[in-house]
Amino acid sequence: MNILFNNQVVPRDSVSIDMEDRGYQFGDGIYEVVAIHNGELFEWDAHLERFLRSAKEISLTLPEQFEQLKDNIYQLIAENQVEQGYVYFQLTRGTSPRMHTFPEPEVSSVLTGLVKKVDQQPVTFMKAITTEDIRWLRVDIKSLNLLPNCMAKQKAAEAGAAEAIFLRDGLVTEASSSNVFGVKDGVLYTHPISNLILNGITRQVVLRLAEKLDYRLVEEAFTKEELMAMNEVFITNTGVNVCPIVEIDHFLIGDGACGPITASLMAAFNELIQLKEKMGIYSQK
Ligand code: PDD
Repeated sequence: MNILFNNQVVPRDSVSIDMEDRGYQFGDGIYEVVAIHNGELFEWDAHLERFLRSAKEISLTLPEQFEQLKDNIYQLIAENQVEQGYVYFQLTRGTSPRMHTFPEPEVSSVLTGLVKKVDQQPVTFMKAITTEDIRWLRVDIKSLNLLPNCMAKQKAAEAGAAEAIFLRDGLVTEASSSNVFGVKDGVLYTHPISNLILNGITRQVVLRLAEKLDYRLVEEAFTKEELMAMNEVFITNTGVNVCPIVEIDHFLIGDGACGPITASLMAAFNELIQLKEKMGIYSQK
């Protein structure tokens, strides 16, 4: 398997990462996950923009020849023959003797990336749990520090669920690796953009689709009680796109099946993917 290492596509076993890489020791870095449909990157420009923002927010200098990233990822996709799947890439602040302050003088940041094929059928529904949001207050940055997310997802798995919905001060923020939406009396609710959620690219697409479908949108935080009383709940992320949550903390949401608004958004999302495939209007290579 070939992977991306700085500015080159190389065999995976030819790469070694130093144990004093700051990503490894401090989680000092950022990442993105971008879907691949029909060999094309989905919403590339939006992912790149978020990546650049994350870098800026943690004062991380981009590596030399960063402008070749997209071409390199397409090379990676071609060499690994990925039609459906995703690309994961990350950038760390590089290698230097362990010290909390940023290296002075600066060292080269380290970029790594890999593509994965996804062959299995898409997930059609999920159960979730709720759990306290114990993450830091800058989760708008897509940083490598995912320990609280991993702990929450593990807690969900141990409870027989697939996702953990975070509550901060009694309000739903997002989930361990997705954004959360609720539907009540035909109105769509989701947490507004702030430092308390990651502004999901899928979330942004779904908001656009909901607008096109003429749904009323309210970007406001809601409580756990309001969550449990929603007619429909669904999550969004790169991977599942839109996925209904039919049970939370062992209580059924609505009648415990995918609701009509969720279904219409799932259909609209799939149409968008197919339309883009047909018209070849993914981000230009
Ligand atoms: N995670 N919120 C969190 C905490 C996430 O980790 C993610 C995605 C999202 C949704 O973002 P997007 O729609 O851009 O995928 C929201 C990715 C998939 C991951 O960590 O694997």
